[in-house]
Amino acid sequence: MHINLLLLVSCFSFVFSDSCSNCVNSGKLWCLQNSQCGDTTLACNTSITVPLNCPSPPQYGYDDEFMRSEIMVLTTAAQNENPQLCFNNQIPTMKLYKVTTANCSTVYNDVTCVGYTAYDTKRKVISISFKGAHGQDQIKEMTDNCVKYGLESYYTVTNGMIFKCIQDSFMLIWNGGMQADLRYLKYKYPSFELWVNGHSLGSSLAWAASAWIVNIGLYKPDDMKVVVMGSMRISDYNFAAWHTQTFSYNFHILHRSDPVAHTPTFVASTNTTLFYPKTEVWYNNYMNQGDPYQVCQEADGPFCSGSVDPKATQYIDHLYYFNIDLPGWGHAGCPMNISAYAQP
Ligand SMILES: *[C@@H]1O[C@H](CO)[C@@H](O)[C@H](O)[C@H]1NC(C)=O
Ligand SMILES: *[C@@H]1O[C@H](CO)[C@@H](O)[C@H](O)[C@H]1NC(C)=O
Ligand SMILES: *[C@@H]1O[C@H](CO)[C@@H](O)[C@H](O)[C@H]1NC(C)=O
Ligand SMILES: *[C@@H]1O[C@H](CO)[C@@H](O)[C@H](O)[C@H]1NC(C)=O
Repeated sequence: MHINLLLLVSCFSFVFSDSCSNCVNSGKLWCLQNSQCGDTTLACNTSITVPLNCPSPPQYGYDDEFMRSEIMVLTTAAQNENPQLCFNNQIPTMKLYKVTTANCSTVYNDVTCVGYTAYDTKRKVISISFKGAHGQDQIKEMTDNCVKYGLESYYTVTNGMIFKCIQDSFMLIWNGGMQADLRYLKYKYPSFELWVNGHSLGSSLAWAASAWIVNIGLYKPDDMKVVVMGSMRISDYNFAAWHTQTFSYNFHILHRSDPVAHTPTFVASTNTTLFYPKTEVWYNNYMNQGDPYQVCQEADGPFCSGSVDPKATQYIDHLYYFNIDLPGWGHAGCPMNISAYAQP
């Protein structure tokens, strides 16, 4: 009885996503509101044109409490030179292994790219996290390089492409120590899961890391949890589709009007249209405990964060996640009392 029910459920979801995918794959439009397939004359409020936007729920449930109490801490800890201070205050069984700081600038002496490895024998987890951009020099150089060099494919597992500026920065951290550190931890704790996370630039580096780790066969995607916050789009359609299909535990948390979701989606230097992988989770509020959120069934378009007016974005929504000033709280070592870090 139980098995029949499962079969029935998976059958339904298969048929559902399949009719939308079949529809758009045959060059037609899928109407989200009434589940009809038609040509361009189809009267419809929201037409789906690519399979990645065909509605489908994530394979794993989204757990607000887990993101808030664990992933937020791991992500924020990258802001502190000693991430262990954050762990001591919030998740004491988590132990820092090593921080890697790479010189990822050819121009500035105040620009570094940072990532760290950590492990938790209670949770049976190894975690890697990446720090966001700090300062205008880094944002400027990164933006210039992304625009100038566009996207490339780096993988044998997909022909999908990501920004060269992101892959280059990730590789400097990876080859600058993180690879050796992660291999050591994997050797020591071979059965542990791998969590990969970051915020802002750190989230883009985390996406690059997740893909690279699978590409070189270091971890199986089913043994990984990929969770990022406030990432810009870093990839073309094929990478986004591959990343979505590959990582069954894969969430991108976006806060209200965070401008990262509203930057241009076309890169002229390599003629690439950018896409987000699934699954976006969008909080249209302060992200306080108990606040509602939307687990987005589509990847990219007028859905969830995409429903915000691009002219109405606020940079402050990029810095505050779960109603905590992420850099400020991180610098302070993630103290228990978060009220001083709440969004104004
Ligand atoms: C399209 O949007 C209009 C206005 O929001 C609404 O009244 C109508 O029911 C929608 N149509 C469908 C098919 O959802
Ligand atoms: C990084 O290297 C560049 C030269 O490639 C140099 O100008 C810059 O000062 C270095 N930055 C740091 C933080 O060492
Ligand atoms: C850019 O990409 C579009 C869509 O894939 C294609 O039709 C067009 O020919 C490309 N243009 C150049 C200059 O490569
Ligand atoms: C938490 O911090 C706020 C602001 O700094 C302070 O007013 C409050 O007394 C603190 N609460 C506790 C329980 O320490």
